[in-house]
Amino acid sequence: MEKKFKRTTVTSALPYANGPVHIGHLAGVYVPADIYVRYLRLKKEDVLFIGGSDEHGVPITIRAKKEGITPQDVVDRYHTLIKDSFQEFGISFDVYGRTSSPTHHKLASDFFRTLYDKGEFIEKTSEQYYDEEAKTFLADRYITGECPHCHAEGAYGDQCEKCGTSLSPTELINPKSAISGAQPVMRETKHWYLPLDKHESWLREWILENHKEWRHNVYGQCKSWLDMGLQPRAVSRDLDWGIPVPVEGAEGKVLYVWFDAPIGYISNTKELLPDSWETWWKDPETRLVHFIGKDNIVFHCIVFPAMLKAEGSYILPDNVPSNEFLNLEGDKISTSRNWAVWLHEYLHDFPGKQDVLRYVLTANAPETKDNDFTWKDFQARNNNELVAVYGNFVNRALQLTQKYYDGEVPTVGELTDYDRQTLAEFKDVKQKVEDLLDVFKLRDAQKEAMNLARIGNKYIADSEPWKVIKTDPERVKTVINISLQLTANLAVAFEPFLPFSSEKLRRMLNMTSFEWEQLGRTDLLPAGHKLAKPELLFEKIEDEAIEAQIQKLLDTKKANEESHYRANPIRENIAFEDFEKLDIRVGTVLECTKVPKADKLLCFKIADGLENRTIVSGIAKHYKPEELVGKQVCFIANLAPRKLKGIESQGMILSALNADGTLSVITTDREVKPGSEVC
Ligand code: MF3
Ligand code: ZN
Repeated sequence: MEKKFKRTTVTSALPYANGPVHIGHLAGVYVPADIYVRYLRLKKEDVLFIGGSDEHGVPITIRAKKEGITPQDVVDRYHTLIKDSFQEFGISFDVYGRTSSPTHHKLASDFFRTLYDKGEFIEKTSEQYYDEEAKTFLADRYITGECPHCHAEGAYGDQCEKCGTSLSPTELINPKSAISGAQPVMRETKHWYLPLDKHESWLREWILENHKEWRHNVYGQCKSWLDMGLQPRAVSRDLDWGIPVPVEGAEGKVLYVWFDAPIGYISNTKELLPDSWETWWKDPETRLVHFIGKDNIVFHCIVFPAMLKAEGSYILPDNVPSNEFLNLEGDKISTSRNWAVWLHEYLHDFPGKQDVLRYVLTANAPETKDNDFTWKDFQARNNNELVAVYGNFVNRALQLTQKYYDGEVPTVGELTDYDRQTLAEFKDVKQKVEDLLDVFKLRDAQKEAMNLARIGNKYIADSEPWKVIKTDPERVKTVINISLQLTANLAVAFEPFLPFSSEKLRRMLNMTSFEWEQLGRTDLLPAGHKLAKPELLFEKIEDEAIEAQIQKLLDTKKANEESHYRANPIRENIAFEDFEKLDIRVGTVLECTKVPKADKLLCFKIADGLENRTIVSGIAKHYKPEELVGKQVCFIANLAPRKLKGIESQGMILSALNADGTLSVITTDREVKPGSEVC
């Protein structure tokens, strides 16, 4: 790192306190941030690691309503659960605060007021859905209705969970308030907007010119936002949970959760350091780094910087290392479908194995693309890497020291060429790990640390001290001494990644403390130094434990399917004449193309026996266009035509909806003539 900075403020995204945390959170944000912070601390740099819970926003109020408790009850419960999970996994925050704290309410409120007084907002009145029975404006999530695309009932005002389409509430057919069930009406409401368009030009230069070193995924997402052109963004909401808008006439309005949450980083710093927090946020010699997941990029790279700049006294982030997503056994992690490995459950099932999960999540970190967590891979990495390489080497070195020298470090004799070669190889590792950690390539950095263990393992295997002891006992002293120095190096190198194991190893080696500067040195354990009793560093994970986890997921899948069918029961009987009204036909797909600017839609040209017809269908997430050309499909031929993205769709293609939300087009068992009736 260049020395122009005196200290580093590291933040990690504040998780919503509306549910427990899972491996996706850990892999995406908290383990990487923790590795980086521990590394800086080992280097004796000044660093502050900020975390906390994000306790506002609509999902929390929805959860409270569902459970019949208050939003405060919800966040109290999950704040504690989340905080404990992080602590158990060794995420070494200097502070873990919460956005419902008085310190935060005041700071966020003052922040808004400063921008307001400086004229940094614009005020706009717009029409929004209002529930006259409940006497409240309705957040998008509080409005449900029929999806305009797939016609499923129960789509939300921001998204249809059946077909995945993003919606705005006014698109819903027959909208209903989720609070009272009433039909909402349009009513005018005033909000404050941050005019991002006014910030566009400095943001362009700051990111696109001055931060070319940001990760490709981050830079790329910023570029596409900037290229589309920025729009003013509302920073207030009509809601009764959150921080009141500190302006006259703003009753019933609160700060938008994405306005107050990032300010939470600052408030939590203030909570910890009431007198010196500003140094960590305002001194140009402070470097600010945000660890986040990819769904947070725009807020941390564009919106929050614009807020900080508008305020005027804050520094901007120097880097925003964002990860992509971690999937679980091939499927997207989902809280609502319970498709996750929850940290508190992992701790219950694998007590004491925090480092194993940390190791696997880093080895598989979704740094450049989405990655998959599988239990088989988890087992393999534990058994073949942690146990067979790292653990095996350390165990041999320590056990042989016990056996031959009663636990005392032996003296080094004359070095052979092979010794020198080994020492030279492991001297390199320090620089390599540093170079990688400095640019947030944590996964490769861990690989280099593991490489040190591989070097050690090979060294001890090649040197065969258990044989040589009979012929040349002096030589064995040197081999064991070198192996012990390597072990001490490993303990230091792995501290950021596997803090629990390093601590255990430190105790076994009887070392007082670690420093990054010790890496590469061969005098960490002087001859005559007494070691503590050795224990195993890692243990094998048996098939049964893995099968139990896989079974648990299969059970979840089955339960999800059942609840899907229960939630979609057979509809009420209809008369035969009603059925007869439907004209379902078979057609052959002549052409199939993606609809521009609609990631869900495909446009079909269908041979229907008469003229060809055009049908637009929301199945782009499930098929590549070329897969469907030539296929025979079933479609409703007498559905009134509708316009989708400007294209007139003359009918509807029929698909089967799987419980997991995937769609399979219905086709015929034998080839038939286009236009054949389905009866
Ligand atoms: N709660 C948000 C999420 O889970 C992250 C908030 S990060 C902060 O996506 F910047 F707002 F703090
Ligand atoms: Zn839909």
